[in-house]
Amino acid sequence: MTSSTVPAAQTPADSALVRAARGLDVPHTPVWFMRQAGRSLPEYRKAREGTEMLQACRTPELVAEITLQPVRRHGVDAAIFFSDIVVPLAAVGIDLDIVAGVGPVVAAPVRSQADLDRLPPLTPDMVEDITESVRILVRELGPTPLIGFAGAPFTLASYLIEGGPSRNHEHTKALMYGDPQLWHDLLARLAVISGAFLRVQVEAGASAVQLFDSWVGALPRRDYEAYVQPHSRATLAALDGLDVPKIHFGVGTGELLRSMGEAGADVVGVDYRVGLTDALARLDGRWAIQGNLDPAILFAPWNAVETRVREILDEASAAPGHIFNLGHGVLPTTDPDMLTRVTALVHELTAR
Ligand code: CP3
Repeated sequence: MTSSTVPAAQTPADSALVRAARGLDVPHTPVWFMRQAGRSLPEYRKAREGTEMLQACRTPELVAEITLQPVRRHGVDAAIFFSDIVVPLAAVGIDLDIVAGVGPVVAAPVRSQADLDRLPPLTPDMVEDITESVRILVRELGPTPLIGFAGAPFTLASYLIEGGPSRNHEHTKALMYGDPQLWHDLLARLAVISGAFLRVQVEAGASAVQLFDSWVGALPRRDYEAYVQPHSRATLAALDGLDVPKIHFGVGTGELLRSMGEAGADVVGVDYRVGLTDALARLDGRWAIQGNLDPAILFAPWNAVETRVREILDEASAAPGHIFNLGHGVLPTTDPDMLTRVTALVHELTAR
């Protein structure tokens, strides 16, 4: 089939997003935005009024509404499941809270062998509401794919070991370099939990997944490969036998792109610090890519945004597949209209 006759997708499995992730021809470059479901939207703030974040994540009708909001508003090519990377940790019994403006805060940090008892495997019965939310969404979304997600073991370990968000990850690194046995035991448990969380979402109907290793850019490549990559690989391998593409993303991971691809991803997410031409050279053309508009550029006048979008599409044309996204999450004070305009521009410039 020639590219000019690529039909509009009738099913999520044949959508532009899934096809791009597999390096197949697409009707247009698919677009979605990390953190598209959230605080930049007034309808999100209204829907969330009076409901704590973790409670919201466990309420299927609310999860479905919030997940659908950016799809309706921006015309993006995929929905990202409204949840949080710490939801599966709470589901297995970790006492934590998501504090507005701060992030996840863990009541008692995990730092000893005895603490590992607090991280049993996640089983589907612990997250029946997640299955329910995904099922509602898949029904409502029709041909638009739903992206499921999980936090990768390193990033989850950082929250658990530090007890909350951290700039330097000093306790995390102290444990990793100081007690490798405990480190590997901890990450192996987190891989089981994250892998199960991904599997639940895909079995309920999600058409793609993203593994967020947001903070792993804090490590040099050799240490990534020794201390982290086997566990991220195990997380993604939990999806073996389920036919969905896997996106692997982290911030400041320019030096790790290839190793993150080799952990078992189909698509490597690129943050805004690395140009896509450089990223593609590092990836040897072996993976589709996702990215990478700097979310802060959305605060510049439209002509500056348009110029950058054109440059990104131009660089990405050499990739085996490209999913347009930001280089990290939507900032809370972003003008949502900019996201709508960027979506329309990417579609217009790439229509085949
Ligand atoms: O729109 C989407 O992307 C889907 C939902 C989503 C959320 N968190 C909702 C959320 C996703 C995919 C995440 C992933 C997540 N959570 C990551 C990886 C992505 C990244 O940005 O690197 C990380 C590191 C977390 C941990 C976390 N949870 C942080 C850093 C924060 C923000 C703290 C803050 O308030 O500034 C949260 C809370 C959170 N997760 C919010 C949302 C919409 C804000 C909660 C609120 O509205 O009060």
